[in-house]
Amino acid sequence: MKTRLAGRAMAVWVIAAGVAWADGAPPPPPYQMRAPLPEGDRLVPGRDADALFSNRCGACHLAGGMGTNILTKERMALGAPPESGLLVNRSDLTRSYITTVVRHGKRAMPSLSRVEVTDAELAAIARWLGKAGE
Ligand code: HEC
Repeated sequence: MKTRLAGRAMAVWVIAAGVAWADGAPPPPPYQMRAPLPEGDRLVPGRDADALFSNRCGACHLAGGMGTNILTKERMALGAPPESGLLVNRSDLTRSYITTVVRHGKRAMPSLSRVEVTDAELAAIARWLGKAGE
C-alpha cells in the first residue's frame, strides 16, 4: 500500500515537473528553428528562396547564429547598426558577391559545395538576398 501511494505521488510529481518545464522553458533561438527544406527537385529553379535561405544558411545567419554574431561585431566596428549583422537586413549585397562568398568562403565562413547548396538553390537565395542587384 505504502509503495503504491509513493508510486502515485512520484507519477504526479513527474507529470507536474513535465508541465512546469514545458511552460517555463524559453523557446529555442531562431538559428535553431530553421525552416524545413522546401519540397521539390533540388536541381530545379523556382523553389521558395526564403525557406531555402533559412534551411541552408540559417544555422549561421538567422538571429543568434555564429555568422550573425561575427558579422554584427564586424559591422559595428565599421560604424554600421547592429541589425545589419543579419544578412536579410542588408541592402548592399549583390547576387554575384553572395555567390562568390558561398562558393569560396570568407574568413570564418566555410565554402559550401554544390551538394550542400545546389546551383539552382544558390541562384534562388542570391536573387532573394541580393537587394543590390547583379
Ligand atoms: C557554418 C556557418 C555558415 C553557413 C552555413 C553560412 N555562412 Fe555565411 N558567413 C558565416 C560567417 C561566420 C561569416 C562572416 C565571415 C567573417 O567575416 O569572418 C559569413 C559571411 C557571409 C557573407 C559575407 C557578408 C559580408 O558582409 O561580407 C555572405 C554574403 C554570406 N555569409 C552568405 C551566406 C549564404 C547565402 C549562406 C547559405 C547558402 C551562408 N552564408 C551559409 C558563416 C556561415
